[in-house]
Amino acid sequence: MYEAMDHAVALARKAGEMVREALQNERSIMCKSSSVDLVTQTDQKVEQLIVSSVKEKFPTHSFIGEESVAAGQPCVLTNNPTWIVDPVDGTTNFVHGYPFVAVSIAFAVNKELEFGVVYSCLEDKMYTARKGKGAFCNGQPLQVSDQKEINQSIIATEFGSNREPEVVDKIFSTMRNILCLPVHGMRGVGTAATNMCLVASGCVEAYYEIGIHCWDVAAGAVIVSEAGGLLMDVDGGPLDLMSRRVLAANNKTIAERIIKEIEVFKPTRDDAP
Ligand code: IPD
Repeated sequence: MYEAMDHAVALARKAGEMVREALQNERSIMCKSSSVDLVTQTDQKVEQLIVSSVKEKFPTHSFIGEESVAAGQPCVLTNNPTWIVDPVDGTTNFVHGYPFVAVSIAFAVNKELEFGVVYSCLEDKMYTARKGKGAFCNGQPLQVSDQKEINQSIIATEFGSNREPEVVDKIFSTMRNILCLPVHGMRGVGTAATNMCLVASGCVEAYYEIGIHCWDVAAGAVIVSEAGGLLMDVDGGPLDLMSRRVLAANNKTIAERIIKEIEVFKPTRDDAP
């Protein structure tokens, strides 16, 4: 496990270098599910690097990666040791040079997440966590906020890439409900993985989103829970990595308060046939 985690950290660092270098050059942009669901050659190249390196070092391990799934690979979590990878989390940010882009690598065995590595590569922040061993940013321990008052909190979320008017209405309605509690503020840096690391760091009390994918949140989930936070579905049930819904919070009081305000909907699951 230690070997796999060290390897993940080294790969995330290398991937981050590729992202920083690519930002100096022209980015070639393509669309996936819609005109606002973007992918670049860098996403694909970084994923290639990670897949080939993992295959060489751990030939029996399985792999779920954003771009491999986009290319038709199955998105199914089995009991086999599995790497769950988002090569460039915050692709829209990357395309526009908006300065938050992360490489997200998680590792699961028997469908349980064992470690998570999120490299916020433009800030040069390496977030790491291993089950039962705490969470760290550049080697410094992380702890979630101890705030229990929702009206003293910052809540993070994202608009995602679904532009169906009914979905956008639900997103705005939830944001309105939360803003009017009132909360101190709402934020979102354009990468799910980094939003989760901000919860782990204690500067944001909670992050929720409907429409994310397993590769956006798997690594962040380990980091949040090892920093003392909790993960749930947005309806209060247990986190289901394939459900495309996540709530990461510093504690139960904040989580339960937010759940009351969320207009829940069900996107197509990541593991839908
Ligand atoms: C996206 C980012 C964004 C979130 C989307 C994700 P990508 O990941 O995490 O913050 O709102 O739901 O899909 O596509 O940049 O890897």
